[in-house]
Amino acid sequence: MAGGVVWGHLGPQDKEPPFQRYPFFDLPGENVVVELVVCSANYTRLVEGLIDTTHTGSLHQDALRQLAAGEGPAPSFGGTPRVASAGVLAQDLAPDIEVQETDFGFRYAAVSRHRQVDGSVRRRARVTSFKHPTSILTQSGHLAQMVLPVDDDRSYLFMTFWDPTRNIRDGEARQEILTYYGIDDIAKNVYGAGREFHDLPDRPNKSNNWLQDRAAMKNGSFTGLYRFIPEDFAVSASMGGVERFPVEHLVPADLAIARFRRQMIDNVQRVQKGEDPRGFDPKEQPRPAQYDVPEGEDWRDHYTRAAD
Ligand SMILES: [Fe+2]
Repeated sequence: MAGGVVWGHLGPQDKEPPFQRYPFFDLPGENVVVELVVCSANYTRLVEGLIDTTHTGSLHQDALRQLAAGEGPAPSFGGTPRVASAGVLAQDLAPDIEVQETDFGFRYAAVSRHRQVDGSVRRRARVTSFKHPTSILTQSGHLAQMVLPVDDDRSYLFMTFWDPTRNIRDGEARQEILTYYGIDDIAKNVYGAGREFHDLPDRPNKSNNWLQDRAAMKNGSFTGLYRFIPEDFAVSASMGGVERFPVEHLVPADLAIARFRRQMIDNVQRVQKGEDPRGFDPKEQPRPAQYDVPEGEDWRDHYTRAAD
């Protein structure tokens, strides 16, 4: 057990990968929150949705609007309130995506320009890392999302939050995180994200329109759903089961998703040849980051200096 999670290797014994470390392993237990939620969608659907951070400003605009207006839960990590990134994400609908392959998988930057109050333009890079085969570390930091396939049509998502500066495991700090992301009791019970509630009747499914509140949508809500995870899960599950993608209309924002698919196919081929897959024993640790990049310079040159 490490970081509040029991880790296991289910493959052949001689193929057990070296144990990998995550940033939250070194913190006391009270600085870490781990929550498990369940979604009726294939593992790749969830991974692709979590890798793609550009959907945040559109799909999750209700929560971001609330946050920017100072309403509702507003968690902070490491002394930085989430509200600091709400404005950036809301403006960040069509960033340039640039992918860099690594030994753990890849990281990519969403680079966007933001006009400041004084008229100047700030160029911002938000770096997300994907570590094979399960983990997405998003640019907002202090959050690792790990997707575990249960079967072809069901996945578990482990959401791990950490704050090096304080106890977030108990009390209000914990509740604020759970409510903000939509992994609290309402999300788990009413929206079926909890394992014990997921298969009960009347939880979100195609026949009940994923519980979208149409009246709320008429009044300005974008999704008529409840916060980040129920919104993500409705999108992931509503895409249906496993299928081929003979015709797909990818856009520039899907570059990272295309790289994920290419690396997954490459990993299958490596294993078929008896080789280790990418991410088996990476030397580099995945690390999210968010920082300014001067005009004309490369985000990769600034990455090593930026700390989560
Ligand atoms: Fe999302």
